[in-house]
Amino acid sequence: MHRPRSVRDADVVGKRVLVRVDFNVPLEDGEVTDDTRIRAALPTIRLLLERGAAEVVLMSHLGRPKGSDPAYSLRPVEARLRGLLPDERVRLLENTRFDPRETKNDLSLARELAGHGDLYVNDAFGSAHRAHASTEGVAHLLPAYAGLLLLRELEELGSLLEGPERPFVAVLGGAKVEDKIGVLRSLRERADVILIGGKMAEEVEPDAGYELPEDVVAAAAFEPDAEARVVAWDEVPEGWLGLDIGPATQNRYAGRIGEARTVFWNGPMGVFEWPRFAEGTRTVAEAVAAADARTVVGGGDSVRAVEELGVADRIDWISTGGGASLELLEGKELPGVVAIPEA
Ligand code: 3PG
Repeated sequence: MHRPRSVRDADVVGKRVLVRVDFNVPLEDGEVTDDTRIRAALPTIRLLLERGAAEVVLMSHLGRPKGSDPAYSLRPVEARLRGLLPDERVRLLENTRFDPRETKNDLSLARELAGHGDLYVNDAFGSAHRAHASTEGVAHLLPAYAGLLLLRELEELGSLLEGPERPFVAVLGGAKVEDKIGVLRSLRERADVILIGGKMAEEVEPDAGYELPEDVVAAAAFEPDAEARVVAWDEVPEGWLGLDIGPATQNRYAGRIGEARTVFWNGPMGVFEWPRFAEGTRTVAEAVAAADARTVVGGGDSVRAVEELGVADRIDWISTGGGASLELLEGKELPGVVAIPEA
């Protein structure tokens, strides 16, 4: 695995530091509704300020706008950042994706961005799988370093790939199955047990080394209060939908997690946003939190689940990356990481 050099080794005194962060956070009515990713970038920004940087110029994308759509402006994010870290040496550029050259990794844009700094720090782990002008292109134009969050993510997720303590139990669920096929393949070679839940359980090959649910909570319609009952995994009535793993499966999965020394969890076990179908995800979340193991959770929905279920502070590492954490676990090198010289 590529080990980029650390921002701790950079001389920043009196310098303008251009920092790529991942402030792609959820907004509602112009307000940030989850500032986890903003808080996660603070240690690097503080380090730069404490070490005497003249200016810290932050840049990020937000969403996938078509052109300069004001609904995707980073100004609400900047307001939240100012509340958390009021320092006039810090400023945040506007959404990098307002410029169509960003996602094309266009050299002329990378040059314009590089003009904001004397050196470049990438702390945007969540975007490190994108080869864009602000994540990859610019790293070739300025002395480049990895930020503290990026380094920690590489260490935590990397330790799952390189010599995890055994048994290593992986729990995979969620709805976006096609995004996870690669990670499933990679984990099959590395994990001792792979527990499958959510929609993914319908898509994987049985007998391919995974553990699948034996029972499900099936509902007559995709609605929060639809008629529902527990049935055997292979006896879901015609036209009904499995919306959670059933009690026997919950028990077995919790037991497996309880025996683990390393756990990676990505993706909920069912439609946990609806209380009647949240029990499987809750049981897994609690088992992961209680496990006497190194526990790592990655990916947007499972992160939301551990937070909403109130167990986040009992998980060892909650990744800020969705797609990036999955690509790393697939064993891929991330373009934003590889562009930074090694130590
Ligand atoms: C994420 O939220 O996964 C990252 O910010 C990357 O966003 P993207 O998938 O739009 O590139």
